[in-house]
Amino acid sequence: MNSTSQPPFIPFARPCIGDEEIDAVAEAMRSGWLTTGPRTKAFEDAFAAAVGARHALAVSSATAGLHLAVEAIGIGPDDLVAVPVWTFTSTAEVVRYMGAHPVFIDVEPDTLNLDVAAFARRAAELARSHPGRLKAVMPVHLGGQACEMDAVLDVAGEFGLKVVEDAAHAFPSTTTCRSVGDPEKRRRTVGSIGHASVFSFYATKTIATGEGGMVTTDDDAIAARVRTMRLHGISRDVWNRYTDTKPSWYYEVVAPGFKYNLTDVASSIGLVQLKRAMDLRQRRWDIARAYDAAFHGHPALAAPVPRHADDENAQHLYVLRLNLDRLDIDRDRFIAELTARGIGCSVHFIPLHLHPYWRDRYGLAPSDFPVATREFARVISLPIYPDMDDGMVQRVIDAVLDVAGQHGR
Ligand SMILES: Cc1ncc(COP(=O)(O)O)c(C=O)c1O
Repeated sequence: MNSTSQPPFIPFARPCIGDEEIDAVAEAMRSGWLTTGPRTKAFEDAFAAAVGARHALAVSSATAGLHLAVEAIGIGPDDLVAVPVWTFTSTAEVVRYMGAHPVFIDVEPDTLNLDVAAFARRAAELARSHPGRLKAVMPVHLGGQACEMDAVLDVAGEFGLKVVEDAAHAFPSTTTCRSVGDPEKRRRTVGSIGHASVFSFYATKTIATGEGGMVTTDDDAIAARVRTMRLHGISRDVWNRYTDTKPSWYYEVVAPGFKYNLTDVASSIGLVQLKRAMDLRQRRWDIARAYDAAFHGHPALAAPVPRHADDENAQHLYVLRLNLDRLDIDRDRFIAELTARGIGCSVHFIPLHLHPYWRDRYGLAPSDFPVATREFARVISLPIYPDMDDGMVQRVIDAVLDVAGQHGR
C-alpha cells in the first residue's frame, strides 16, 4: 500500500473459516458420503450437548427449521402466531406458509426484543375477540441477546401458547431464568428454554456452514415430526435406509414433507465451527467491549446496553444507535459516510411493518409500532467478526467517531 492508497474496505461480515474447516470438507468429500449422514449425526449430537437440549435436528436453513417447527407444533390455516415486528422476514413468512397469520408486536426500546407487556396485552385482547386462535409466540433473540424468557413463558403459559424461539443469532447465548426455583438450574442456554428453538448457520452467522440450521427441542413428539417432515415425510431417513446395519429398501411416506435436510459437507464445517464457538464468541466480545469503550458517553452515539449483566450474548450483531438530535445527518447518510471511509455496515432490521407485503397484507401503519418505527431511523450494525484484527476494529471506531464529530451539533 502506498501512502495515497486507501486501506482495504472492511466488509460488514465475513465467515471465519480456517484450515481445519477446509480439511474437514475435503475429508467429507473423500468419504463417499455427501448428503445427510454420519457427520450430520455427529453435528446434531454435539449441538444438542452444547445447548443442553434432548434433541437437535440439522436442517438446510433456519427458515426451513422455523417452518418445520411451526408445522410440528400444529399451526394451521387461520391460526394466529405472535411475532415481534423487529425481525427478519423468515420468522413471519413461515407462519404464512402454514396459512396462518402473524400478529405483530412492538419491541422494547432497550433490547429491540419482543415487548412482553405488549404481547401480554395483545394475547388478552385476542383471547376475548378471537378465543382459541392465538396458538404460539416466536420470540427473536436479536443479535444473540436473549429475550426476557421468564416473562414470555409466563404469558405463553397463561394463554396456552407454544413457544418457538427464533435463535438464528443466538449461538451460544445464555440467560438466567429467574423463575426457576433451583439456583443451580437458573442459567439456561438458548435452545433449551421454549418448546423448540431454531438456529442459523448462514454464512454470516456466529457459526457458519454457508447455509444451514438446527432445530432443538426437549419434546419427543416435536422432534419426531421435524425428523420426518424435513425429509419428504419419510418415516426413516436416507442414512438409515442405505447404510443401517440392517439395510432395508423399505420406507413409508406418512405426510407430504419437505426437502430440508443438511448435507454432510455442511455438517463437516459445522462440527469444526462448533468446537471453536466459544473462542469465536470471545473475539466478538472483545470487539464489542472495544466499541463500547469508544462510544460510551458520546453525545451523538448510544452503545447497546445488556439487559442483564450475567446474560452471555452470542454477540452476532453490534447495533449502534445514533442520537439524531445531536447530528446534522440522518442514519442513511451516516452509513454512506462510513462506506466512504471504507467501512461496511448494515441495518438489523427494517421492521416488518415497513415492508410492502406485510404492510399491505395486514394494513400495518408506522404508528402501530411506535418503538420499532422510531428506533429503525437510528440503528446501524457495525462489523463484528473474529477475523477482524485490532487495526480493523480501530479503523471502525475512528470512522464512526470521525463522522459523528464532523456532523455533530
Ligand atoms: C432473525 C432471523 N431469523 C431467521 C433467519 C433465517 O436464517 P436462514 O438464512 O438460515 O434461513 C435470519 C437470517 O438472517 C434471521 O436474521
